[in-house]
Order: sequence, then C-alpha cells, then structure tokens
Amino acid sequence: MRIVYVVGTRPNFVKTAPVIGALRARLPAGRHAIVHTGQHYDRLMSEVFLEELGVPAPDHMLEVGSGSHAVQTARTMERLEPVLLEERPDLVIVPGDVNSTLAATLTAVKLQIPVAHVESGLRSFDMTMPEEANRIVADRFSEYLFLHSEEAIENLRAEGIPDQRMHFVGNTMIDTLVALEGRFRAAGAAAQHGLTPGEYALVTLHRPALVDGPLLGETVAQLAALAAQMPVVFPVHPRTRKMMEGEGAGEHPGLSLIEPLGYLDFLSLLADAGAVLTDSGGIQEETTYLGIPCFTLRDNTERPVTISAGTNTLLGLDPAAIAGIPAALDARGNAPSEPPPLWDGHAAERIADVLAD
Ligand code: UD1
Repeated sequence: MRIVYVVGTRPNFVKTAPVIGALRARLPAGRHAIVHTGQHYDRLMSEVFLEELGVPAPDHMLEVGSGSHAVQTARTMERLEPVLLEERPDLVIVPGDVNSTLAATLTAVKLQIPVAHVESGLRSFDMTMPEEANRIVADRFSEYLFLHSEEAIENLRAEGIPDQRMHFVGNTMIDTLVALEGRFRAAGAAAQHGLTPGEYALVTLHRPALVDGPLLGETVAQLAALAAQMPVVFPVHPRTRKMMEGEGAGEHPGLSLIEPLGYLDFLSLLADAGAVLTDSGGIQEETTYLGIPCFTLRDNTERPVTISAGTNTLLGLDPAAIAGIPAALDARGNAPSEPPPLWDGHAAERIADVLAD
C-alpha cells in the first residue's frame, strides 16, 4: 500500500500526526510519503509542530506560501500533481478544511486516486467562511470519510453521501492531545509567563471575518478592558499580527500579546487557563476535552458537539460580548463535562483498522 499524506497548516499537522503513526505501525512495508504544501511556513507555525509531534521530515515540500485563495489553491494543485504522478499512491489522506485540503482533494481525484478525508462532515452552513467550501468539496470527492462526531452523519446524508463511505472513528486531534498530555502537564507554561493557573484568559483569533476589518480594533479594546479584571495572554497568529500593525494594538496593562507558541507550551497554557476566548475550531474541541470554559467569538460553529458538551459558548461575532465573560464564569462555577463519544485517544487506530481492512 502506498499512501500520500498532504498537510499544509498548523492544525493539519496536529490532526494527521497520529494517523501517520498508526498507519506506519499497521502497514510497515508500505510507502508513507508526507507532502507539506507550505501554506504555513514560519518556523513557529510549521517546523516546531512537526518536531514536537514526532512527524518525520516531509518527503516533499511544495513551498506554496501565502496568496489569494485562487493562487494558493492553484499553486498547490500545480505542484502536487507531479508528486502524485511520481509517488503513484493507492490513497491520498487529507485532514481538515484548509485550502491545502481542497487543492489536494481536487488534484488526487482528477488523477483518479482515492482520497480519505479526516475530520469529515463538519458544517457551519455559512458559505462566507472559506473553510465551508473546502469541507464540502473534500467530502463530495473522498471515498473514505472519517467522522469525529455523530452530527456529521446527518450533515453528510443531507448532501446525498451514502452511509457506506462514512466511518465514525473519533477525533485525531484529541489523539495527539492525549499522547502529549504527560509532557504538556509538566511544561509549566503559565508560570513562565508570570500567570497563576486557573486565573487567566487565553485568547486566539485569526479568522478573516474577525481580524480582517474594524472588529479587530474593537476586540483589542475589549481585551484590554477584560485584562483589568483577569490577566489575558494572546499568542498572535501572523495573519492577525499583520492586521494589528495597521490597527496600532498598543500596550495595555494585563494584556500580553506574544508570538505564536509551540504546541506543548500552547496546550500547557490551555489546560491551566481559567477561560479561553477563540475563533478557532480546534481550540473549541481541545477545551471540550480538557473541560475548560471556552467563549467563541463567532456567529456559528461547525462543532456544535462542543456546545452540547457544556464547555463552549457562542458569543456571536460581537466584541462587546467579551465584557460578559467574568460574569459568565461566575455563573458557570465548576460545571463538570464529559468528552464526546470516541474522543478517547484511539481515533487514528480506528482509521488504520478501516484502511488496513
Ligand atoms: C488557515 C486556514 C484556516 C485555519 C488556519 C489555521 C484557509 C482558507 N484558512 O488560515 O482555516 O484555521 O490556517 O491557522 O486555508 N502567514 C504568515 N506565516 C505563515 C502563514 C501565514 O505570516 O506561516 C500570514 C500571511 O500574511 C498570510 C496570512 O498569514 O497571508 C494568512 O495565511 P493563510 O494560510 O492564507 O490563512 P490562515 O489565516 O493562516
């Protein structure tokens, strides 16, 4: 069996690492080639993750870099096609919903190579999100759909996708978290940032709807106000950093704007946070697994299971709602929560079971 794994962005590495590990163990005589599209390329967005996750060095680097959606997608397709012709894989595995996922799916399907989509069936029903189109295309053209939550089943059925293609296996991002738990619990990142566990808010924001316009300035002003009540630490995504330069984020006591973190340090800060404010999909899931209160600065989520689990609250795309976080935390108390079904650290093994069969 010859398998090509196509990854391109920070969350892709986290979702795919356990799948590569499980399939290499199950099919040791097979070819397992990793393609890094280069959609994310800064060391703190890329190499650090591959190193910490123990992913072998990629076999092919496409170095597509940044660009408009069409440029990034087209460049990936153009550079991936000769790699797939050379590797002649029996299967291409793509994770998530980023432009690299879309490009790899289309390239493989045009070469009549079967595709497996990890994290299939998520829908926000919001076509203004660039990821929504990527998800729909990846699911439409993939032969193996690996689902991480039961809600995905109905989403896919509604698009006419037959049940035989669906495999509810659980969440591979949580596999990575479980595998790293001993290490990130020992990392002590809060103390290194002068923070007391349980008493600070951790913030990440990068979606275009929030950071590419005037809402970013309003959000930073609200974070500065929140920081007067609880310390706020905000590792800033490069996209957000670029937009902030125009907005003049400035200095605010208690609000700490820092560089992106490696995964161990990030999970350490996440696990010890009193609250998390984010627009990320993956962080809604990680907080659900860890039982940390999460406030999501979006109008919708493709991950409603994180809301029914009791950890995640949708604030709306409304920076003013940040002011309500301290009161919401007081009202919430220490409500217990349970991870969703099959978020147990063994999803990648289930994927390997399906594919090895
Ligand atoms: C991408 C994904 C998004 C995912 C996010 C995870 C798409 C459409 N978006 O968003 O779904 O949640 O990754 O982080 O695929 N940049 C750097 N260095 C890097 C990477 C990016 O400076 O290593 C800057 C560049 O200015 C670039 C901008 O960030 O133009 C945006 O990068 P891009 O990959 O287009 O999208 P993300 O916002 O990272």
